[in-house]
Amino acid sequence: MSLLQLQKRSMAIAGVAMLGYLVFHMLTNLSFFSQSAFTQFYEGYNIGLIRWPILLIFAGAVVFHVKTAIKIRKVNSKARTVDYQIHDKLMISAALVTASIGFLLFFIIVHILQTVTFDTDHVYQELSGLFQSVWMLVFYMAGLFVMTMHLSHSLANVLQTLGKTSVSCHYLVWAACILLGLGFAIVPLYIFFVMS
Ligand code: HEM
Repeated sequence: MSLLQLQKRSMAIAGVAMLGYLVFHMLTNLSFFSQSAFTQFYEGYNIGLIRWPILLIFAGAVVFHVKTAIKIRKVNSKARTVDYQIHDKLMISAALVTASIGFLLFFIIVHILQTVTFDTDHVYQELSGLFQSVWMLVFYMAGLFVMTMHLSHSLANVLQTLGKTSVSCHYLVWAACILLGLGFAIVPLYIFFVMS
């Protein structure tokens, strides 16, 4: 196996680990609709030795994923003498793709900084307070939108590499990613529009 193939494979593994965390995080966030269940979950999650190792593994996976993506991009751009003007079938410019991924990274960093400073005894109240602001709502919706686009595009690429090229397979990936994005978005939307 070539170095490039190894890098691509390990980048995909880090991506799948992050996806696993995201599904878990989205499902546990949905417990917000029952204050007692949400509080009970975060009491256990924050007291035990669960939170920090998970955060460390997640942050490590993000750093590794991004660093490897940059390395692969450098190799690819050296091999390509004429740069792409537009990116893939959706006709999105390469610069816009780069900017959106930069924004996604910024969104994740801001989110982690915000949540690590939460009062761990009052996570429900902290989260409810965060989404009183329309700016925070817009920022999170934008971050979740870019995350959903990035996930569906990357997973479709992984499927293609694995030889799964059928349209129904790709629709399934899109549907699952949209469901994940909506599962995250419903909590801030509920706080802002129903609770405030
Ligand atoms: C609107 C969507 C989201 C909500 C409402 C939400 C909510 C939360 C909450 C309440 C915590 C604090 C946990 C604590 O105090 O222990 C947290 C932490 C965290 N979230 Fe999110 N989150 C959202 C989206 C995301 C996304 C999209 C990502 C990753 C791309 C993410 C990654 C993390 C990480 C890494 C932590 C820190 C580790 C931890 O304490 O569990 N979250 N989030």
